[in-house]
Amino acid sequence: MKTKDFSQQSALVTGGATGIGRAFTEVLLAGEIGAVIIASRRQNVLDEAARELNLKFGAGRVVPYAFDIRSRAETENLVRFALEKCGAIDVLINNSGLAVPETVTEISDAGWDTVLETNLRGAMWLAQMLLPRMLEQDFGDIINVSSQAGKNGYADVPSYCASKFGLLGFAESVRDDVRKRGANVRVFNFCPGLVDVETPPDEAPRAGFVHVRNMAKTLIYALSLDRNVILEDINIYSR
Ligand SMILES: NC(=O)c1ccc[n+]([C@@H]2O[C@H](COP(=O)([O-])OP(=O)(O)OC[C@H]3O[C@@H](n4cnc5c(N)ncnc54)[C@H](OP(=O)(O)O)[C@@H]3O)[C@@H](O)[C@H]2O)c1
Repeated sequence: MKTKDFSQQSALVTGGATGIGRAFTEVLLAGEIGAVIIASRRQNVLDEAARELNLKFGAGRVVPYAFDIRSRAETENLVRFALEKCGAIDVLINNSGLAVPETVTEISDAGWDTVLETNLRGAMWLAQMLLPRMLEQDFGDIINVSSQAGKNGYADVPSYCASKFGLLGFAESVRDDVRKRGANVRVFNFCPGLVDVETPPDEAPRAGFVHVRNMAKTLIYALSLDRNVILEDINIYSR
């Protein structure tokens, strides 16, 4: 199966300027990936993250792009920009996500749509738009950030659970699709419990949380596996 040197690869990380996405971006850069496009809504947050990371890892390796994943037009523009900038996106990380805490009797149409469109439809769009290019070059990785709320239901966030369960079902279908084609495209899903994205790198996490550095390590581990290896949903949580 085709391999591609990591330094020749490019990644697109949605929500790549903050939290888990930022840790993913940093570890990809530390691993000498060629370039990372970080994309989310707030231009100032993206610009500041790109400035800091380019200072640390080398000019021009992080490219910020502002878009709203709930807009098909903006998502199409992001994909066009990313392909023009990098030639190919080898690693797609569907990480943007949010929760609207409404119990089942409280769920509003606006809350439901916000969560489902951000966490599920947006990830579907990006996979749909980038998979054809991965098939063309017969190389690619799609990483989806689901949650333990994609494995278990929680009364306070039913719409979030529905979106994260849905993301796993969609991802499994993509995996089945690429398997049937015999394509060299892998699909990994993270299902984290509570992740501490605030505690500094060298300190112990808050009780009950996994430090975000473990998400970053696991990403690199998953990407380092042989191309024919399927690593199913990565359940990662604090004991
Ligand atoms: N932290 C945890 O404990 C935990 C546990 C399990 C799963 N997760 C999942 O991990 C992922 C990252 O979460 P995080 O904890 O790192 O929180 P975070 O820092 O709030 O990350 C969420 C990212 O999504 C982006 N985003 C939100 N709405 C968007 C939109 N409409 N269009 C484009 N981007 C959008 C946000 O940027 P903008 O606001 O600038 O758009 C932000 O960068 C999420 O999918 C979350 O559900 C987190």
